Parts: sequence; structure tokens; C-alpha cells
Amino acid sequence: MKKIIITGCNGQLGRELNRFYADKRGLEFINTDVGELDITDIDAVMELANGEKPYAIINCAAYTAVDACEENKDVAFKVNTLGARNLAIAAESVDARLVHISTDYIFDGTKSTPYMEYDIPNPKTVYGITKSRAEDFVRQFSRKYFILRTAWLYGDGKNFVKTMLRLAEDHREVRVVSDQFGTPTSAAELVKAIDSIIFTNNYGTYHATCAGRCSWADFAEEIFRLAGKDVKVIRVSTDEYGVATPRPLNSVLDNYMLRMIGAYEFIDWHDALAAYMKELGY
Ligand SMILES: NC(=O)c1ccc[n+]([C@@H]2O[C@H](COP(=O)([O-])OP(=O)(O)OC[C@H]3O[C@@H](n4cnc5c(N)ncnc54)[C@H](OP(=O)(O)O)[C@@H]3O)[C@@H](O)[C@H]2O)c1
Repeated sequence: MKKIIITGCNGQLGRELNRFYADKRGLEFINTDVGELDITDIDAVMELANGEKPYAIINCAAYTAVDACEENKDVAFKVNTLGARNLAIAAESVDARLVHISTDYIFDGTKSTPYMEYDIPNPKTVYGITKSRAEDFVRQFSRKYFILRTAWLYGDGKNFVKTMLRLAEDHREVRVVSDQFGTPTSAAELVKAIDSIIFTNNYGTYHATCAGRCSWADFAEEIFRLAGKDVKVIRVSTDEYGVATPRPLNSVLDNYMLRMIGAYEFIDWHDALAAYMKELGY
């Protein structure tokens, strides 16, 4: 029986992992969220790892509210960076694998083509900096690591799809940014990528997003189309929209490493979104 510790199990990815592995035999999941295991507490992290001697730890815990990270820099650093460091130290001490989830926000978004795993990070936000430093710590303190960088994630939780559907209830038009590009990625797809490498020795850093690319405005239009909602998307530039925290203009990641090792090939974002919306009842 392989034991797998999940941190942040109540988040979008944590929930999806549980759903995906619900019927799989030979695996025992130890589900923790901040109530059971605060990843910023290294003593608690070490105690759990030493007690359970897991085969793997999957870190789904993070402080993901990008704007709030700017206001609460210390919390962001503790959870995103020191939390990841603590898990890396613990994983290494019990010879466990560590799956750590990272983000497109480690890049500055100025590249004109998709980002490769070997492109140099240059984060522009507190969230991005804390996630980038987390990657450094994971590499520094653990050997059996899988860092998966994903983007525009949606699953069972708060996300862009749910926000658009909520807006559709009482809006006939919405303003959405049309000059930031990325790839919406369902938690269901990300879990399949994790599953395709976690039991192998292909340690390293991976880009892990659905196939294709779009702007937030394109994404919103597809959500409304699939939901049968008659909502007009007003396309606005990042400047016109006027958010305080900068977002990368280009968030498109190339899943080069997954392709190179012949691991999971993500489906197109349209198809992943359609599957998700179907589950929501649309
Ligand atoms: N969402 C995206 O668009 C996106 C894009 C790229 C990468 N990612 C990365 O993907 C991963 C999963 O994201 P997600 O959307 O599933 O996140 P999420 O839904 O925000 O879930 C994160 C979970 O971690 C918990 N948590 C917070 N602080 C903790 C602590 N100190 N100890 C233990 N648990 C703690 C949260 O609890 P509370 O809710 O109570 O705080 C929440 O249950 C993260 O690493 C994130 O950075 C996400």
C-alpha cells in the first residue's frame, strides 16, 4: 500500500485528486488541509512525514489570491515559499517523492512565444515571486521532486468559470480583458498529468496546461456559449480594465517536458471546459 499525503486537500486540485483516485486500489491517501496540517509549521510537517513514511507528498496548498498576496506579503511567503520548503525537507528526510504545483506567474509574460521549462523565471508579483522561490527551495532540498507549472486552473472551487456563470445571472454584458493570453486548464486534466509521472523516476520541472491558447475574453465567450447564456463580452485591454496587480500578458506554457518523456498529453482547453461544464449541468 502506497501512502500519499495531500496538503491543501480542500482546494480545487486537492478535491480533484481525491475524486480521481477514489477507486484506485493500492493507494492510501492522507488528506490534510490547514486544520490538520499547516504547511508553514515545519515541526508538524516533519512529524506527519516521519509518522506516515509516505511514498509521496502532493502539495496542493497555496495562498492563491493574487491581489491579496500583494497586501499580505508575509503570509504569501510563509505559505507558498516556506511551506513548499518544509515539504521538500520532509519529503527528502523520508525518501518520499514530492509533487509541487507552480504557476505561469513565475514568468513576466513578455515572451512572444510559449514559455518552455528552461526559460528563466522573472516574476512581477508577490504571488509569482513566492511561487518562484518555492521552486528554488524544492530543487534545493529534495531530489525526488516533480514541479508542475499550470495556469488558469479551474475545478471544484472558486475560479473564473464560476465567476462568469455568476455574472451571467444578472448581467447582459461583461467587460473582460482581451490582451492577456494563456490556456485554461481543468483540475481534471492536471490530475491525469500528475498520475502519468508520479509513479515514475522522471523527476524534474514540467509545464502542465491544456492544449491551445486564448484570451480571457475568448474564455468568457466560450463559457457563455456552452452555458447557453446571452451575455455580450466587451473586450477591453489590460490598461482599460485597470487591475492593481500586473498579470503576465503571455501565460502560454509549452508542455515540452511532458512531450519529451511521452507522458500525459493534455486535451484542448475547449474540450476540457466542455467536460467541466457538462458536470456542472450545462
Ligand atoms: N488557481 C489557479 O488559477 C492556479 C493557476 C496556476 C497555478 N496554481 C497553483 O495550483 C495549486 C492548486 O491551486 P488551487 O486553485 O487548487 O488552490 P486553492 O483552491 O486556493 O486551494 C488551496 C488550498 O490550500 C489551503 N491552504 C492555505 N494555506 C494553507 C496552509 N498554511 N497549510 C495548508 N493548507 C493551506 C487553502 O485553504 P483556505 O482556502 O482555507 O485558505 C485551500 O484549501 C497551487 O499551488 C496554485 O498556486 C493555481
